[in-house]
Amino acid sequence: MAHTRHFLTLLDFSPAELNDIIARAIEMKKEHRAGADQRKFPGQVLGMIFAKSSTRTRVSFEAGMAQLGGHAMFLSPTDTQLGRGEPIEDSARVISSMVDIVMIRTFGHDIVETFAANSSVPVINALTDDFHPCQLLADIQTYVEHRGSIAGKTVTWVGDGNNMAQSYINAARQFDFELRIACPEGYDPSAELLAANAGRVSIVRDPMAAAEGADLVVTDVWASMGQEEEQKQREAAFANYQVNGELMSRAASDALYMHCLPAHRGEEISAELMDAADTVIWDEAENRLHAQKALMETLLLANQ
Ligand code: CP
Ligand code: NVA
Repeated sequence: MAHTRHFLTLLDFSPAELNDIIARAIEMKKEHRAGADQRKFPGQVLGMIFAKSSTRTRVSFEAGMAQLGGHAMFLSPTDTQLGRGEPIEDSARVISSMVDIVMIRTFGHDIVETFAANSSVPVINALTDDFHPCQLLADIQTYVEHRGSIAGKTVTWVGDGNNMAQSYINAARQFDFELRIACPEGYDPSAELLAANAGRVSIVRDPMAAAEGADLVVTDVWASMGQEEEQKQREAAFANYQVNGELMSRAASDALYMHCLPAHRGEEISAELMDAADTVIWDEAENRLHAQKALMETLLLANQ
């Protein structure tokens, strides 16, 4: 177990390893589109534990594992003993004795850490309250495909200091870019994470100022899963934090904008930008498939 590699945050891989995964994702996407047989892992099983809803993550992992020749098993707390209080430690020990790799989407980040510490196979964080590293692989892949390396670029985050914002902080460190975070007071990312990345990450309260000259502008929902009851209060707090044409006019002329989806048109992003013919948001969503296939390949080969 001590040697099992996991992917709980972007910090679990070195910058070189992360860049290799991005390059492999781009390559696997081309292979897939050319109809290549990618069934490299026949008989291997991915356990997928979802304590929160999902469209992209479930479809991309399940389709991806099938394309790699393996099988994906959907496990929900309501149908397993996880929802009846079986300890995470015991569940991890049992599940990992029967499958080859596990992905978990849940609430507390400590849950994936505990699972991984007791798992004999690689564990992938498919979103916790604190981090969503798989989405960052897809986002960086998308940037690289459209604009080349993100190293040295300026990225502006507009909105909540949530799991995606915190993943962008880790990405700024690993992929070497400057990150400006425009969020209202009271919605900052973790102070500890900000302090650890003070040289490359800054809080700029005014979203227009934060977007000035940016190469990439990113946003996400104002109320994440588990915060549904705060929706109204958050709509008021984030009213000036919409990514729209006016905000993008402050960014670099070739700037891209991204959103991990699902989106609320007219809230964190304008309908005009969501529905623009040249948006890369749909590539970003599709790249979840390719990036996670590259990630699973890397972890499965490392655990052989
Ligand atoms: N972006 C993302 O993780 O989407 P889902 O919640 O649909 O999986
Ligand atoms: N921040 C959002 C991301 C959804 C993919 C959430 O956690 O609900």
